[in-house]
This record gives sequence, C-alpha cells and structure tokens, in this order.
Amino acid sequence: MTRPMTVYVSAEGHSCLRRAAELLGVGSRNVREVPVDSAYRMDVTALRAMLAEDDAAFCVAASAGTVNTGAVDPLDDIADVAREHGLWFHVDGAYGAFGILGPDPAPGYAGMHRADSLAVDPHKWLGVPVDCGCVLLRSPSTARDAFSLVPPYLRAEEAWLSEYGPEQTRPFRALRAWATMSHLGRAGIVSLIAHTTGLARTLGTMVTEADDFELLAPVVNSIAAFRFKPAGVPAERLDELNRAVPGVVRGRGRAFLTGTRLGGVEALRACVLHPGTTEADLGVLVEEIRRA
Ligand SMILES: Cc1ncc(COP(=O)(O)O)c(C=O)c1O
Repeated sequence: MTRPMTVYVSAEGHSCLRRAAELLGVGSRNVREVPVDSAYRMDVTALRAMLAEDDAAFCVAASAGTVNTGAVDPLDDIADVAREHGLWFHVDGAYGAFGILGPDPAPGYAGMHRADSLAVDPHKWLGVPVDCGCVLLRSPSTARDAFSLVPPYLRAEEAWLSEYGPEQTRPFRALRAWATMSHLGRAGIVSLIAHTTGLARTLGTMVTEADDFELLAPVVNSIAAFRFKPAGVPAERLDELNRAVPGVVRGRGRAFLTGTRLGGVEALRACVLHPGTTEADLGVLVEEIRRA
C-alpha cells in the first residue's frame, strides 16, 4: 500500500479542490479541511496544529477568492507554514487572483507571489470565453518532470507544450487570454476590477442598510453574500425562503443570482463580473428578490 499524502484546504475552499485531489489520486479522504475564521479565511493557528500531528502532509492549497464570499486566505502566513513544513504551496485564484489589482485589495493577497502554483481563470473575471483556465508555476520544469512522456515519433530537441500538462494536443487557448489582455491593457483590467469590486461593495451597503436583508460576509472582492429576511417570516423558515429565491429570480428573467450555503444557513450570492453592470442593475436585483 502506498503512503497517504495529505492536502490541506480551508473548509470554505474545499469544494473546488476536492475534485482536483480525486483526479490526482490523492483521494478525498486525504483532504484535510482547515477551520476558517469569522470572515471565512483559513485559520493558520488551526493549520499549524493539524500539521503538527501529520507526517504525510505534502501540499497546502489556499484560496485567493473563495466561491461563496471571495474571501482571501492569509497567504503570506500560509506561505511561511508551507516553507517550515516543506509543503507545496498552491493558491486557488481561479476566480479571485485578479482582485489583487483592485483599489483596496484584501490584506490576505500579500504573499500570493510566494505560491509554487497559482490557478487563475481568465474565463472568469477577465471575461475570456470558456474554457481558458490556467496555472502559473514558480518552476515550470516541475510540470515537465511530472507530465513529460514523449513517444518516439515526437522526439525533438526542444520541449513540446504537451510535456507541461495532461493534454497531448491542445487548442490555442492562450490566444483568447492574450487578445483580451492586450485589448484591455493593464489599466483596463485594473479599472474592470475597480468597477466590479466597487459595485459589490455598494450592494453590500445596500443590503446592510435595508431592513429586510442581512449581509453574511465582508465584501472583499466582487462577491456579496447575503440573505433575505423580510419582516413576518419566522427564523425557522428563512432557509426555505432563501433556497427558493434564486430559482424564482432567474425564472423572472431580469437578474441572475445564485444560492449557496454559508455559515450553516442558506444564502444568496451575487458575483459581479460584467463590465457593463451598473448601480441601477443592483437596484433591479434587490427589487427582483423582493418580488420573487
Ligand atoms: C475559487 C474557484 N476555484 C476553482 C473553480 C473551478 O473553475 P474552472 O473549472 O472553471 O476552472 C471555480 C469556479 O467557480 C472557483 O470559483
């Protein structure tokens, strides 16, 4: 039997990383969920305590923007822990890595540059057509060591791209990312991030100030997580109500909203990514929830 290798992820970030762990053959049972603080960030003290009792740990995978709330784990502290324990430090920035370019980025981003690998999806915040996910590696040669398997008919002096990933033949996805990035430029991307994070913060303020809503997490990226709490609905029926709302809102066709489970309750989750979204749209969303 081979020795288990354990991977550490925050209890909030685990849903995206569990699939990767299974595909890698690590197996879900070797994924350790680290508790989170009240803002849904990995609790580094708890991580240290868990690692103290584990001699099979090989990777800590932190989040730079969780799906539910956009929370950013304290990446610099986690990088320290990874270095002390000789762990691979992966950062899942699929949704949120670009948030570091925002006007007031979450403090957790400090240390993102210390990752051994950083997942980032241009097909999310940059609006590049799917599928255009990518991973940035500190040492690309590690990917070549893992994936290179060159059949005799492909032998060549220079490296093939297929030596750096699981696909033998792959489409020119990078062209789409390049086209978007060269069209927007760095300034355009910064302004897209500022616009969308600004709107999510405005939505956070709107729901905080409204008597019939409750904000469920700090807004640190372009995601606002909240719930509908109209007067007259007893507390024990709020989960049922909030579970039903997103489907009804989408069915009405004026706004798109998803639901999730957060801190043990049913929540509503608005993720603002489109550059054309306006403050007026936020008003429409809030009104649509009430009507739903
Ligand atoms: C934080 C995070 N990680 C990973 C994923 C998976 O992304 P994809 O399969 O689109 O690359 C998502 C998608 O929502 C995500 O938000």
